[in-house]
Amino acid sequence: MKKGIWEEFDGYQGIIEEIEAAKKYREQIIPGRYVTKEYVDRLHPARLTLKVSDLIEETPSTKTLRLTSSNGALPPFLAGQYIALYPVVGPIKTGRPYSISSPPSQTGHYDITVRRVEDGLVSNYLLDEIKTGDTIEASGPSGQFYFNPLVHDKTMVCIAGGSGITPFMSMIRDITDRGLDREVFLFYGNRTTKDIIFNDELAHIASRFGNIHFIPVIEKPAKSYKGKCGFITGATVKEVIGNTKNKTFFMCGPQGLYDFCLPELETLSIPGRKIRRELYGPPTQIWKYPGWPKKIKAETAFTVSVKGGESFTAKAGESLLASIEKEGIAVPSLCRSGECSMCRVKVLKGKVFQPAGTLVRKSDRWFGYVHSCVSFPIEDLEILI
Ligand SMILES: Cc1cc2nc3c(=O)[nH]c(=O)nc-3n(C[C@H](O)[C@H](O)[C@H](O)COP(=O)(O)OP(=O)(O)OC[C@H]3O[C@@H](n4cnc5c(N)ncnc54)[C@H](O)[C@@H]3O)c2cc1C
Ligand code: FES
Repeated sequence: MKKGIWEEFDGYQGIIEEIEAAKKYREQIIPGRYVTKEYVDRLHPARLTLKVSDLIEETPSTKTLRLTSSNGALPPFLAGQYIALYPVVGPIKTGRPYSISSPPSQTGHYDITVRRVEDGLVSNYLLDEIKTGDTIEASGPSGQFYFNPLVHDKTMVCIAGGSGITPFMSMIRDITDRGLDREVFLFYGNRTTKDIIFNDELAHIASRFGNIHFIPVIEKPAKSYKGKCGFITGATVKEVIGNTKNKTFFMCGPQGLYDFCLPELETLSIPGRKIRRELYGPPTQIWKYPGWPKKIKAETAFTVSVKGGESFTAKAGESLLASIEKEGIAVPSLCRSGECSMCRVKVLKGKVFQPAGTLVRKSDRWFGYVHSCVSFPIEDLEILI
């Protein structure tokens, strides 16, 4: 008999076994009302308290923080998803998302791997100040950047830059841990070989598993370097993967990676629906975006008045969310990339700049709500939080 497509899903057999067990032991396992709530809270907790159980130096500018639960089991996640950390850095309570680099099969901890951003508030705090044994507040796992067997091809072409390797590390570890039927071509761009995060592990995995191909691409290599050099171009990708058909492309990294690699993939005539890209934070250098009012500089200051609260000064080049947080005002946030809607505020007076493609629900637009993480003041504002 022909196999149903669902039989090919990862974990299909496990689900069938669970259904059989449920039928057999129905009385014992049908959850009661409160038990159901416990399950839901475990899967989608409002907040987690995580303990730093280990700090692992990966490169001179990168560390992995191994995080265990301080209050019960960790919620499951899909390889590629992120958690948001909510540290208090000096007077500022803020949040930043970090992809989980450990695989979902590792249920005892989440690893997050943080690279230093020059003058960055949270990355420097996590790299320099956090110690083993400290606790930190976090969200549950979230995000849409994962392999979906209904939509994606089994051959994944992954393009990573710098710390953008982290979701791919989780995916690759997941594939090799569970022996999944998938092929991965990982192109990983870095400035020098010293910057390659997980280099030894990736090289080792690629030498053991015929379905994982690791292609580091080094911008400024030593003269003796024999691998691929420069940036990740369409020609480099084509040379390694050959035919681009029946392959889904996944990209993750800083803005510069998208700016360079998306046009390169266009040269290979890959349809947009075959390219998945992870969000990687608010736009940097918003004043260089198309449509930005020329007379307004990054440092131009505007007054933001919170209805029923205080007023403060905000710089045009800084997201409204970051400016609000600097005043010690807490606004919920998760993705900080304009996707999850958690940070919505209502603009009652004045204008903000939102880069083209910012996703806002139609009803939000009608009633003046914006995602404060990707909105930048270009006039004096009155807002409702
Ligand atoms: C879904 C998602 C997953 C992420 N996963 C990871 C991860 O696994 N590892 C990791 O290290 N980071 C990851 N990030 C980025 C992370 O959330 C922070 O943005 C990053 O650590 C910088 O925060 P900061 O507070 O140090 O810098 P900020 O104080 O927020 O920024 C300081 C300055 O640096 C610029 N800047 C901000 N972020 C970057 C950047 N990434 N590259 C270059 N310049 C930047 C800002 O525009 C600003 O000028 C992820 C982001 C998203 C949205
Ligand atoms: S925090 Fe997700 S949209 Fe702003």
